[in-house]
Amino acid sequence: MPLDDLPLDDLPLADLSLGELIARFNPSDPAFIANPYPVLSALREVTPGFRNPITGQWTLTRFSDVQETLRDRRLGRAYTHRYSHEQFGKPTPDPRWSSFQQHEAWSLLCLEPPDHTRIRRLVAKVFTPRAVAALRPTIEGFSTELLDACAERGQFELLRDYAMPYSVAVICSMLGVPRSDTQLLLDWSHAIVKMYELTTTDDVRTAANTAAAEYIAYTAALIAEKRKNPDGLLVSELVRVEDEGDTLTEREIISTTMVLLEAGHEATVNTLGNGTRALMLHPHQWQRVVSGDVDARSAVEEMLRWDSPLQLFERWVLDDGVEIAGQPLEVGEEVAMLFGAAERDHRRFPDPDRFDIGRGDTAHIGFGGGIHFCVGAPLARQEIEVSVAGLAKRFPNLSMVEAPQYQPNFVIRGLQSLHLSA
Ligand code: HEM
Repeated sequence: MPLDDLPLDDLPLADLSLGELIARFNPSDPAFIANPYPVLSALREVTPGFRNPITGQWTLTRFSDVQETLRDRRLGRAYTHRYSHEQFGKPTPDPRWSSFQQHEAWSLLCLEPPDHTRIRRLVAKVFTPRAVAALRPTIEGFSTELLDACAERGQFELLRDYAMPYSVAVICSMLGVPRSDTQLLLDWSHAIVKMYELTTTDDVRTAANTAAAEYIAYTAALIAEKRKNPDGLLVSELVRVEDEGDTLTEREIISTTMVLLEAGHEATVNTLGNGTRALMLHPHQWQRVVSGDVDARSAVEEMLRWDSPLQLFERWVLDDGVEIAGQPLEVGEEVAMLFGAAERDHRRFPDPDRFDIGRGDTAHIGFGGGIHFCVGAPLARQEIEVSVAGLAKRFPNLSMVEAPQYQPNFVIRGLQSLHLSA
């Protein structure tokens, strides 16, 4: 039985006090990163919320609290639309990382209404379900091409040989970025997202800031090019889009394309890695996809739920009178939501540690909820479905060559590599 399936009682954690469990919630502990679920589950059973002693965040463990918090408009991803950094007891942004700050300033993930509403409405106009459905043949083409190359090798590394080039090709083809530039964007994205971990170093920040500066210059040139030669693809459409006379500024387009790339790329790659590992750990489930007993579309939902590629999201308390999981919270406090704990809450999912691709439960929180609900969810679902179906068709006897290791991060959870044998 894989470690992840062990009932909690078989692990020594059930006897630990809350304080001891909180100490085990340690993103720099390799054992925790290798399998955080026993600790997350134990915490969730002991308490709906706890104060993280390092970050000070009120940290939520249960599905219903996380879901309500995602939808609660008294909390926000940002606070600067209403409060100063000083009022929130935060230092003013460090000018050394100004390019990083500039690149995300107009990202949907850094905005709250009314700016969020305005930009999201404009993005949604060009990022329609129809546009996503129309991409399907292109996506299938990328998948087939990469799987052909994997088949020739016999053994392949899923992330490097398939998931990364695949997901970046998809998002770049949607944006209208030349395929020859995809590696550049990939490198920038990798460097920039490291800034979102709970702990970072100055070296990491410098690398992220340099990448952001290069990215801004690249996108400004791309926008100028699309203005001259529109191609009907996303960047071109963002330049053109109009809504009741409103348009997107160059800075808004730069932030928007970057958030689509970052959000769209890393989480999709990590879902493919984590989810394929889960399928390989559960050969019976894999055979259900191979035989067609369960649709690949259904498997995608369980891949997202069972080993979430995004483990923690944060919100600021913006209004008085907020109480979550029994804890009154003041304006300026920060709440953290543990997706991995919530997605395995038995109050919401029967037998939650069981990986069961036939659940067909699409109402998990893998794509968030409320006003920041993932704008790319239909695209991500389609990308992963095409991949799982393609892998199952081509490699019915797929298996892992060796036990994979996770990257040493908690918030963004993904494998270092996944070596597979066809
Ligand atoms: C499996 C892959 C993906 C997962 C698990 C995922 C997950 C999420 C989650 C949980 C949020 C909400 C964050 C919050 O509430 O704080 C979000 C937001 C977002 N996602 Fe995704 N995402 C995925 C793929 C994509 C793709 C492919 C794109 C675009 C190409 C994308 C673009 C975005 C954007 C722009 C937002 C911000 C929306 C807003 O603030 O209004 N995501 N995503």
